[in-house]
Amino acid sequence: MTENAKYNVAVLGATGAVGTKILQILEKKNFPIKELKVLASKRSAGKTIQFNGNDITIEEATPESFKGIDIALFSAGGSISKKLAPEAVKHGAVVVDNTSAYRMDPDVPLVVPEVNKEDIANHNGIIANPNCSTIQMVAALKPIKDSFGLNRVIVSTYQAVSGAGDAAISELKNQTAQFLNEEEMEANVLPVKSDEKHYPVAFNALPQIDVFSDNGYTLEEMKMINETKKIMHADELAVAATCVRLPVFTSHAESVYIEVDKENVTVEEIWKELKSAPGIKLQDNPAEQVYPTPLSAADKEDVFVGRVRRDLDNAKGFHLWIVSDNLVKGAALNTVQIAQAAVENNWLK
Ligand code: A2P
Repeated sequence: MTENAKYNVAVLGATGAVGTKILQILEKKNFPIKELKVLASKRSAGKTIQFNGNDITIEEATPESFKGIDIALFSAGGSISKKLAPEAVKHGAVVVDNTSAYRMDPDVPLVVPEVNKEDIANHNGIIANPNCSTIQMVAALKPIKDSFGLNRVIVSTYQAVSGAGDAAISELKNQTAQFLNEEEMEANVLPVKSDEKHYPVAFNALPQIDVFSDNGYTLEEMKMINETKKIMHADELAVAATCVRLPVFTSHAESVYIEVDKENVTVEEIWKELKSAPGIKLQDNPAEQVYPTPLSAADKEDVFVGRVRRDLDNAKGFHLWIVSDNLVKGAALNTVQIAQAAVENNWLK
């Protein structure tokens, strides 16, 4: 990074659940911004957003919005990324895309800085931010894989509604009020807005996040499987996932079973690696009922790990409980960290 260099930054989807957090984190991290452009749909154009004490007018996102932009942070949905990311790149911007549009594209690095920061250097204009449930899992598994090897991962998730955007947050609020008022709960958004059937998430658990693929897994499950292998550079790693939406507003929790490669690994050794890993906080003391929960992790930057146990039948098997704020490390913070790493290492090109 050139000393004191500043950048023209655009945030696309600035009014959404993730976009709002991106702006907060850019502010908090004092990101070196020369000019900030906030972009959303026509519906929001003309309204203002506060940033560093100034009112900034929201503009409708068009291909021309990216003229003169150095870094564009995208979080307005996959179809908009497909349409506008190539336009932003044509105008010379580097795009950090928070949708699934480019994640598995072999020309696009998929990055969790604690795991594979160096991959950013290979970008061709677009860098993808992984799926929220994948980010927190690979961040916690990386130090374990480095020290003990990793053969298998089986994860069940307990995911917050905010991962499905502001509409899902409103739906959980409305359904909770309806249930407590003994009214019928209205469901129009979850499990998947565009799918045929909708079920209440309040006081419920929905074993469907994103649509189903032909193999019986949902796309969210396939994202966890494929993205984990890509980020960890581990095609041979066996990964299985079951993704479940819960009536929780913030933070995804995950019950993760792993099989390490090394013999005779102890829980204490795993604790030691987790304690010294960047971005990870160990909260594991069953005697004092210490473990992370979605509420305790909300609004925090770290990935919290607890309940580390050796499997009772497989000496190489361990169970972990991994919790993180899905809008912070799971989305906005990781996006900003990618941009920071690109700037600090002179990887914008
Ligand atoms: P808007 O508020 O103007 O609709 P969430 O994930 O919370 O639902 O947020 C989605 C974000 O994507 C919002 O900022 C939304 O802006 C933005 N968005 C939706 N459609 C478009 C579009 N066609 N062009 C640009 N931004 C869009």
